[in-house]
Amino acid sequence: MMKKRIVKTEEKPSTSSEARGAARDRKKGGAQHHWLSKRGVLALIVVLTLGTFSLVKLPELIQHFVYVHRIRVPFFIDLQQPADFSLNHTINMYLTSEEGISFGVWQTVPASLWKEAQGKDLAWYHKSLGDGRPVFIYFHGNTGTRAAPHRVGVAKILSTLDYHVLVPEYRGFGDSTGEPTEDGLTTDALFLYNWVKARSGNSLVVIWGHSLGTAVSTNTAAKLIEMGVVFDGVILEGAFSTAGQKLTMHPFTWYYWKFPGMGYLFPEPWAENKLVFATHENLKKMRCPILFLHSEDDHVVPIEIADQLYEVAVKAQNTERVKLVKFDGSKGYLHNGLYRDPKLPDVIKNFVTSL
Ligand SMILES: *[C@@H]1O[C@H](CO)[C@@H](O)[C@H](O)[C@H]1NC(C)=O
Repeated sequence: MMKKRIVKTEEKPSTSSEARGAARDRKKGGAQHHWLSKRGVLALIVVLTLGTFSLVKLPELIQHFVYVHRIRVPFFIDLQQPADFSLNHTINMYLTSEEGISFGVWQTVPASLWKEAQGKDLAWYHKSLGDGRPVFIYFHGNTGTRAAPHRVGVAKILSTLDYHVLVPEYRGFGDSTGEPTEDGLTTDALFLYNWVKARSGNSLVVIWGHSLGTAVSTNTAAKLIEMGVVFDGVILEGAFSTAGQKLTMHPFTWYYWKFPGMGYLFPEPWAENKLVFATHENLKKMRCPILFLHSEDDHVVPIEIADQLYEVAVKAQNTERVKLVKFDGSKGYLHNGLYRDPKLPDVIKNFVTSL
């Protein structure tokens, strides 16, 4: 099921200083470099134009616009070296959710184990999941990898609270194989959940979804409910909704709004593009404690959406089990930054204690 992947030699330079050195060397090219970059721009225009037409012909390519999974931010990183991001008690691994799909996961142990964790292997890390401490699974948003600073930031908070954290990379993202589809992402999430449950004994297993990850989380919850399984608790940060919204208004296409022809590229409603993300419907079915976290100045998903989703969830359960914590718009957290709030650790701790 699991393997350590061999480092490919043609991979990007593993340190940013190496990368900078290479960039300096390239600059020496002078005039020739200038000419090349003109050619590069021309080639880019041709590729973009052709790309636009094939997108109309091949709607499945729309997935690239929704998931933006091939944009690896930050660049020049080695996802096999989580310690580079100062999570020195983290190990990298790969899981296989179905044939041909190998996805990366970072497992961070509680901070109190950091010394003990030095030099330990996968077996030690996996065994630690059964030590009785709560385990979090963090499903990240679209664009980039598990190394993005706001994702590492959440993992650090949870580890400092002395919880275990697993941060998977969906299929097609980062160093994971395959292509992202809504069903595929749910399959990976479900697989990881079951994988954790097989190792975590009676410990709490809490799900944290951010942005696209909130849809993955509620999709997974809905799937599990069909099998009679209920999550212990779910945190939904920056949750979005597709109910009653046009695809062109969708948070994951915001990046492309500035390009002309959006209406032409996305003429179909959601479901016909194989994107459902039925968070509304999922929330009606869910029966676990839910904590919504949303910043009032979220520019990708307006705060009103959080209010609407909260209402749906409260109606399905009650105000005891469903909470919404808003973060002051003056703090400038926007869509990704609320992990920086000094009050967040207490909010999380209280939620976990309530489970
Ligand atoms: C490793 O992580 C722990 C806890 O997060 C931190 O206190 C410690 O300073 C780190 N050690 C090193 C050598 O970076």
